[in-house]
Amino acid sequence: MVRMAPSILSADFAALGADIDRVRDEADWLHVDVMDGHFVPNLTIGPPVVSAIRRHTDAFLDCHLMMTDPGDYLDAFAAAGANSCTVHVEVGRTAELIAAMRGLGIGVGLAVNPETSVAECEPWLAEIDLLLVMSVHPGFGGQHFMEEAVPKISRAYEIARRDRLALSIEVDGGIDAETVGPVARAGADTFVAGSAIFGHPDPLSAARTIREAALAATAAR
Ligand code: DX5
Ligand code: ZN
Repeated sequence: MVRMAPSILSADFAALGADIDRVRDEADWLHVDVMDGHFVPNLTIGPPVVSAIRRHTDAFLDCHLMMTDPGDYLDAFAAAGANSCTVHVEVGRTAELIAAMRGLGIGVGLAVNPETSVAECEPWLAEIDLLLVMSVHPGFGGQHFMEEAVPKISRAYEIARRDRLALSIEVDGGIDAETVGPVARAGADTFVAGSAIFGHPDPLSAARTIREAALAATAAR
């Protein structure tokens, strides 16, 4: 399976609805990057914007919470129309956050930064829907893909197969038609791309090109 999740971080925030419409036919999910200026050194968007997007589209909203205290805002994101939320394992209280997301009836994601081992997530892989492996240091779009993500994806994929888990593996950061190959081969099924899509003059065809490269790599797996 290949699931494309364009990251609106690289869209034009003054024309967000129009940019979302441009990629609609290739966007299985929309990836929404929420940054709190504390867990990462950047500020982006919060529940009011998610709710505006929700009024504009029925797309699946995959909210990536780069926040120190995501638990304070899960209710607000769910009420705004988030379909899933992903919290970082580095912020701790993981069991509590997973239970809160389950209680809200939204998809449950756990993200892991480049410097954090997949082993930190292992205790929860059977409890979550999505493991998000960061292939850049979170905080900004347009950074270079870090190859260190590839063995982490392989490890998670191996565990998911061994334990027959219904786990999606998402990769985020520096994904384009070149870098998507190795991560798809390693076992990722959900691909976030921001600048490679919205930084391209034709975002829809850019997304399609990345999807085709991912499909080709997955077929060779
Ligand atoms: C980075 C964000 C990413 C970002 C990816 O902190 O989590 O989702 O939008 O952007 P690109 O695809 O440009 O690396
Ligand atoms: Zn993200």
